[in-house]
Amino acid sequence: MPTAFDKSKGRTDDRHNNSKVNVNSKVNVNSNIDFISNVIFIFDFRGNDGIIDAMYVITFANPKGGSGKTTSAILLAEQIALSGGRVAILDLDPNANILAWAQGRSSEERDVPFMVHARPQAEETVELIDSLSEEADYLIIDLEGSKDQIVTFALSRTDLCIIPLDGSPMEARQAAAAVRLVQTTSNMIRTPISYSLLFTRTNAAFQTTDERDVRNEMELNNIPTLPVRIAKRAPYTRIFRDEVLLSELSDIVKRETEGKTASVREKALKQVTGAIDNARDYAQAVIHSLTKERAA
Ligand SMILES: Nc1ncnc2c1ncn2[C@@H]1O[C@H](COP(=O)(O)OP(=O)(O)OP(=O)(O)O)[C@@H](O)[C@H]1O
Ligand SMILES: [Mg+2]
Repeated sequence: MPTAFDKSKGRTDDRHNNSKVNVNSKVNVNSNIDFISNVIFIFDFRGNDGIIDAMYVITFANPKGGSGKTTSAILLAEQIALSGGRVAILDLDPNANILAWAQGRSSEERDVPFMVHARPQAEETVELIDSLSEEADYLIIDLEGSKDQIVTFALSRTDLCIIPLDGSPMEARQAAAAVRLVQTTSNMIRTPISYSLLFTRTNAAFQTTDERDVRNEMELNNIPTLPVRIAKRAPYTRIFRDEVLLSELSDIVKRETEGKTASVREKALKQVTGAIDNARDYAQAVIHSLTKERAA
């Protein structure tokens, strides 16, 4: 049954703090939004007790460095948390950008609307993932680029692997390698692992010929692609640069453009609104894909 905006599910659970380096402060980013019209709808499968039957695990993978895994992961985490979903992130990226982002915010007592867990020892990965189902309905895993053993462990528990790529042929080849890795892992564990390509860092205004060709090629090869793409947008780069949430940017930009002309303010705010709309549509597409798979 579709459920929207269950604020009561925000939590400050601290049960699994042995591997959790940081952080969860209260979920009050909701106060920043004009709710209902501005939240994604979480279609889930709850038991009689109102709890989702099993945690969804969404993993971001691509051996290509800089393909947008970490950015796409945090965008999804924020949108689901804003809609009332209990979200945890497992940061398996050796650069630990999300962990640093969360630690930076916590140290300044700023909200972190999801739990963030540090990379465990490879052999402890599956156990950690399984234990997180008590605190989260959605676990988002940010993977490293390489084919490390930890990647296979994480994939073995994945409901949906998202493979971000821009529309270029070079990144398409790397994405194909990621698809093969998912398929190999799937064969190894004798369980299907759903995956989907996500076009990201694309041109907001139009689809390039390269992107269209790559999209057609993927379609011919029956490789699923999320229907929403994430455009290349300045507000997304600010998330890590300024340790902000996307939902905080409207207020920040209003302050930054105080005293500027109306058209400058309007343009800056429009950029943020466009980025928020895009992030929400993308998150909605992911939720749709996840629930469709589970229903099947
Ligand atoms: N949609 C986007 N719009 C604008 N900038 C983006 C977008 N997605 C990613 N970037 C920028 O591109 C760079 C690489 O992105 P990101 O760190 O998310 O990639 P990654 O795949 O996680 O990289 P790595 O393999 O090194 O972990 C970053 O500077 C990020 O800010
Ligand atoms: Mg990364």
